[in-house]
Amino acid sequence: MKVIYPGSFDPITIGHLDIIKRLNDMFDEVIIAILINEAKHSLFSIKERKQLIEKDIEEYKLENVKVKTFEGLLVDFAKKENSKIIVRGIRAIADYEYEMNIAQFNTNLYPGLETIFLLSDPKFSFISSSGVRELASFGGDVSKFVSKNVKKAIYEKNNLGGKNNGKY
Ligand code: COA
Repeated sequence: MKVIYPGSFDPITIGHLDIIKRLNDMFDEVIIAILINEAKHSLFSIKERKQLIEKDIEEYKLENVKVKTFEGLLVDFAKKENSKIIVRGIRAIADYEYEMNIAQFNTNLYPGLETIFLLSDPKFSFISSSGVRELASFGGDVSKFVSKNVKKAIYEKNNLGGKNNGKY
């Protein structure tokens, strides 16, 4: 069975990785779908985000996982991929309210499409990509929230020499 795990992943965090590892164990094929959204200001380009995710997948040996990008509607991407299963992570009630609405829109647009929700591990439920971006921009330690690979990239982006001036 093939499932799609969509998002912006700017950048991928250990919260996302936890969901991806669980999906890798559950499904034959997991497509991480990075949304190309020119309107949204992002820290990492689409190409960079894809490379960062691919490195993490390789490091964690997640053999059932592939990374793709998409533009436009998620349901059109799902049709193209021949999959009727979308997966989203839920960290808190606020995520649920937002996700329920999108899931219902999507099923209405593509009858038969199911959205599966995985509850975030409580250890990671406060982590967000924007939180990580902000922390890194002030030179804070992001080690507990992203992989080594992403940590290096985010400090490089913030002109901190890939290791926050040697502090972390
Ligand atoms: N661990 C860590 N962070 C998580 C997380 C997890 N398990 N699950 C969600 N998040 C965070 C992300 O880091 C991100 O944080 P930020 O906003 O602080 O940076 C936030 O939750 C939401 O990001 P993301 O999961 O990437 O969702 P999104 O809202 O950017 O995109 C799409 C969601 C891509 C599924 C949706 O916008 C989409 O399908 N767009 C295409 C257009 C479409 O078809 N719309 C629906 C029809 S109405």
